[in-house]
Amino acid sequence: MAKKILVAGGAGYIGSHVQKQLLEEGFEVLVYDNLSSGDKVNLLKGADFIEGDILDKNTLDKAMAQNIDGVVHLAAKKAVGESMEKPEIYAENNISGAINILNSMIKNGVQHIVFSSSAAVYGMPEYTPIDENHPINPINYYGYTKYAIEQNMAWFAKLGKLNYAALRYFNAVGYAADKSITGRERNPQNLLPIIMEVATGKREKLSVFGNDYDTPDGTCIRDYVHVSDLAKAHTAAMRKLMTEKSSFALNLGTGKGTSVNEVIAATEKVIGKKLNYDYAPRRAGDPAMLTAKADKAFELLGWKPNYTNIEDIVRTVWNLEI
Ligand code: UD1
Repeated sequence: MAKKILVAGGAGYIGSHVQKQLLEEGFEVLVYDNLSSGDKVNLLKGADFIEGDILDKNTLDKAMAQNIDGVVHLAAKKAVGESMEKPEIYAENNISGAINILNSMIKNGVQHIVFSSSAAVYGMPEYTPIDENHPINPINYYGYTKYAIEQNMAWFAKLGKLNYAALRYFNAVGYAADKSITGRERNPQNLLPIIMEVATGKREKLSVFGNDYDTPDGTCIRDYVHVSDLAKAHTAAMRKLMTEKSSFALNLGTGKGTSVNEVIAATEKVIGKKLNYDYAPRRAGDPAMLTAKADKAFELLGWKPNYTNIEDIVRTVWNLEI
């Protein structure tokens, strides 16, 4: 019988791609989402949907009682700057909300959770590429909330209550190539969605945060990993949790670094025109370079990203506009 997965945050950007991948691999899917940043247009045919908040324990328990075999939890706030100004919002959503999910799982005998974590748990890199043995030292509250939940899951696993996979994403980008996911983020804070708003005329210009970093072109380097590749790691991780008792935390990235200038150049090539941008001061808390060593994902899950070329990635986003 098909296994049934509750996807908390399944109407959001990464969640909708996870929903798609689960459905394609024959899982049953129940999306649980409060639609605060997710969008109903991202609900795919074949998925069930409950509109609910992870802070609403009653509704959450009712959803979890529907013969759920595993949970993918991606319902969280993710604006790094905001997390430093309003940590209480992040404490509630990202920490209390996640604890509600874990507790509801235990209450309902649901044993497996794939958790959406972040490279932000590592803080300022002491070396790159970053492997999973790199010291954990988040420099923003957002990153701390992710690590706090990783630690809770580790305790619950140690106590025999569940097993978990913590997936530490580097920079998630792109859209499903078949254009089945169309919901764009509202008020985006991340580089590529902002670039797309400039490309489509919704925003006047892009400010590049710093061109005096110690990198070849002076702009920051990140590891941009396609969201469809990320989605595949979630299903692989869920299968692993269901067949083995183990728990694990691993990086998801391509291992390849791309600078902000390179993202701009790739975009200009894809869209066939110049982007309006200027150089602005550095943004607080931005490391010069952040790339992943994702060998563990390959060793444990056989996971390797299909997308490694930034132009191909940008094209999957631009395709939604044309
Ligand atoms: C951050 C987090 C990451 C989190 C993600 C989700 C860290 C180190 N990383 O990624 O874990 O999952 O947010 O929101 O905390 N940039 C510009 N102009 C802009 C926007 C961005 O130049 O208007 C640059 C940034 O300086 C950075 C790159 O683009 O070098 C990517 O930025 P962004 O998309 O915001 O992601 P991160 O900050 O890398």
